[in-house]
Amino acid sequence: MEVVICGDVGEMGRLAGDVVTGLVRSRPDAVLGVATGSSPRPVYADLVARVRAGTLDLSGVRTFSLDEYVGLPADHPSAYRAEIRQQLTDPAGIPEGQVHSPPGDADDLPAAAAAYERLIEDAGGIDVQLLGLGSDGHIAFNEPGSSLASRTRVKTLTRRTREDNARFFDGDVDAVPTHCLTQGLATIRAARHVVLLAAGEGKARAAAELVEGAVSARWPATVLQWHPHVTVLLDEPAASRLELADYYRETWAHKPDWQGL
Ligand code: GLP
Repeated sequence: MEVVICGDVGEMGRLAGDVVTGLVRSRPDAVLGVATGSSPRPVYADLVARVRAGTLDLSGVRTFSLDEYVGLPADHPSAYRAEIRQQLTDPAGIPEGQVHSPPGDADDLPAAAAAYERLIEDAGGIDVQLLGLGSDGHIAFNEPGSSLASRTRVKTLTRRTREDNARFFDGDVDAVPTHCLTQGLATIRAARHVVLLAAGEGKARAAAELVEGAVSARWPATVLQWHPHVTVLLDEPAASRLELADYYRETWAHKPDWQGL
């Protein structure tokens, strides 16, 4: 696991943007795992800027979202499907047929979950997975207690997650759905490179557990310690509870250019 402590979220966005750009240059039809919420927005802003500047072509990329609320129609403004279209795939010119999300409005959710797993597998798996981090340590919507071996399935959201996300529902926590369809921790672990972004003091405890805590379903993001290629991009407040912060800074400062992220 590589930890990079960044000066600001703009730097986090640029570094993650570099990873995606490098991938797509070598593989124009790459499979990109995309996250919603505020954490990945600087990455999407960076990628869209590169597309507009003509230095990056994302039109061949296929995307898979991590999660979706249960019960919201795809065009609901707070649905993750609408958000990913608005933040990334529409402005980056990724054709709709190449954009995939768990269908949280399916009639048969377990069947839809299994079908989503097959779709990822048929695409050849995820090349780069972008991730945020919940303040309770969740990744995608794998709340505390999630099986470390879990696959795409229905989960119940914690009260804390619903409160955290109420800002996307006009501040009304009761409007935030209680359930979601989310990729599992084993699904996420199968991605070839995971790039996680976390910013702000509200993420400091979860970031410290993720990087330096014991692997446990209590802090689901800790499952990433078992992954061979994880990049954790943090701003200073999110990194404020790391015991070995100086070591991560030193490692980054002396990293040879040829290594890349
Ligand atoms: C949300 C999403 C996650 C996201 C996380 C952090 O509930 N399901 O995919 O990474 O929680 O959200 P934010 O980036 O808005 O802080």
